[in-house]
Amino acid sequence: MNRLPKHIAIIMDGNGRWAKKQNQPRVFGHKNGVKSVREVSEAAAELGVEYLTLYAFSTENWSRPKLEVSALMSLLVETIRKEVSTLMENNIRLKAIGDLGKLPDRTLEALREGIEITQNNSRMTLILALNYSARWEILAAAKKLHWDATKGLDTEKLTEEIFSQYLTTHDIPDPELLVRTSGEQRISNFLLWQIAYTELYFTETFWPDFRKKDLYEAIINFQNRERRFGKISEQLA
Ligand code: FPP
Repeated sequence: MNRLPKHIAIIMDGNGRWAKKQNQPRVFGHKNGVKSVREVSEAAAELGVEYLTLYAFSTENWSRPKLEVSALMSLLVETIRKEVSTLMENNIRLKAIGDLGKLPDRTLEALREGIEITQNNSRMTLILALNYSARWEILAAAKKLHWDATKGLDTEKLTEEIFSQYLTTHDIPDPELLVRTSGEQRISNFLLWQIAYTELYFTETFWPDFRKKDLYEAIINFQNRERRFGKISEQLA
């Protein structure tokens, strides 16, 4: 328990394939994926994980069939509205990262409401990455920096710490562990700046099948790794 990752990020993948395996529409997979979101959030909070980031919708996901996109947006609204009371009971704060202004009004409204109601909760922060992509985030940071430079910011003095302050994750520590489900071994434009030293964990399990024990397995796997941050083993002792 004293080597628990403070921040876990998850690429929830495989909903569509999970549904297809059972001859069901893709949306059936997303609906069941919500159960995993619930279970994993609960498990992470119980353990004492401080931040849990879930990749729920990428900027690239807009190019999916229209019906699937609108079903996902509705599911988000429905889930946030339904789960706010659970978040309150469990003292969990909701946050979101991404280009949120481009989300449909209804989604944004539910999200803002959920964030506002839970803003003073302190046990764990649940961060939904919505209309998020890391390149969008880094580019947006560069644009803001450029603006500040025209207002007098000395870019010669820029450090990694200062640059991090321009990212949507400015108030969130970098994740120690990144999990991707469904056997795909890619980062898919997720938190590129923040995962420089993150341990990556890939599992074959499809997201709708991901349960508490799968999260424990990922954490135990993480705990058995040696994080050297560029040093050699002997220096760590
Ligand atoms: C990836 O599976 C999953 C998504 C793009 C959406 C994830 C959304 C949810 C689990 C539901 C809502 C979430 C919250 C936080 C309330 P995929 O569709 O890419 O699966 P595939 O690779 O098998 O096609």
